[in-house]
Amino acid sequence: MKTESLYVHIPFCDNICTYCDFAKVYYSGELADRYLVALFDELRRRAQNRYKTIYIGGGTPSALDESQLETLLQGLQDYLEHGAEFTIEANPESLKPGKIALLKKYRVNRVSLGVQTFNEDLLQSLNRRHNNAMVDETVALLKKAGIANINIDLMYGLKGQTMADIKNDLDHLINLDVPHVSYYSLILEEHTMIARESYPELEDESLGEISKLIDGCLEANGYKHYEVSNYAKLGFESRHNLAYWHYCNYLGVGVGAASKIDDRIIQNNRNLYKYLGGENIQEVSEQSQKETMFNHIMMSLRLKEGLDLEGFNQRYQVDFEKFYRKVLAKHLGHTMMIRDGFLVLSKNAYDNLNSILVDFL
Ligand SMILES: C[S@@+](CC[C@H](N)C(=O)[O-])C[C@H]1O[C@@H](n2cnc3c(N)ncnc32)[C@H](O)[C@@H]1O
Ligand code: SF4
Repeated sequence: MKTESLYVHIPFCDNICTYCDFAKVYYSGELADRYLVALFDELRRRAQNRYKTIYIGGGTPSALDESQLETLLQGLQDYLEHGAEFTIEANPESLKPGKIALLKKYRVNRVSLGVQTFNEDLLQSLNRRHNNAMVDETVALLKKAGIANINIDLMYGLKGQTMADIKNDLDHLINLDVPHVSYYSLILEEHTMIARESYPELEDESLGEISKLIDGCLEANGYKHYEVSNYAKLGFESRHNLAYWHYCNYLGVGVGAASKIDDRIIQNNRNLYKYLGGENIQEVSEQSQKETMFNHIMMSLRLKEGLDLEGFNQRYQVDFEKFYRKVLAKHLGHTMMIRDGFLVLSKNAYDNLNSILVDFL
């Protein structure tokens, strides 16, 4: 299968948030310069073609200074297919007008802004460095520059966050009128600052209430809930993330990045100094066809449209309904259904996704 998606990891942040377990370090100009050299070395060795989607994630890509950002974007031009979706993640405090001009110049056409909440006290408790005025201004500047395909990341389940806070977050979000929202439930990751304090986990009951509030408000305002944590206006679904959920191939470069190339999962080193020393890849695991099929099912059931059975049968040369006869006998009509050739989870089955998935193993 051809690899049509490229993920590029930039591990630098100006500050470290209390909940974050992604591969990141404090920004240093000298380290970032060395990193970009190592990154393009890896890319030249591993990239085979141009890509239909490129996603620069982090860390905080917008923490790079203008000249580093230009080096990055200019270097990626050689890998960009005509008409590609080209996304960059950014934090509102560091995406200044000069950097927005560079995004435009180098054909970045989608920006994902980390906002998390519009409650400024909560933002401080998470160790975020922006305020609401910076978000409003950044969104306005992006639109003015002609980059209207904007995603905003929000989170619920924060300590001290009330239903009124979430309602207020939704109101502010709707006013910004961006076409895509990723709304994450806070995950208490090991090795993070919040894992060391007593952090309340959401009860099932509040989770249900919050989901209802978010879904109701976003759907009423024209967003389609197309994946567990993602909502988009028509035509603004993330093409790059859809490639993950359709379990297509992707190449991931940079520290901590992962790639899926046919039946191989390649995990890059999470240690920046090893990566800079040229030890890019930490582990390559060959998956059996059954494991690959399982991963594909796991990813696609996150989508509201579900798993395309005909596409699955063609890709793996199997008959899904025969191969998983026993699982379907157990779950069809209860936790899942087949609708227009797609295997779809029923609405309340999302909370028990893992316990359903193990049956496919
Ligand atoms: C890893 S950050 C990278 C982009 C950028 N630095 C930022 O902070 O938005 C991407 C998104 O992941 C989400 N995220 C990070 N850690 C999380 C956690 N523990 N639980 C839920 N979502 C998380 C946040 O919503 C964040 O915006
Ligand atoms: S959430 Fe974003 S800004 Fe905060 S530490 Fe993680 S990558 Fe950096």
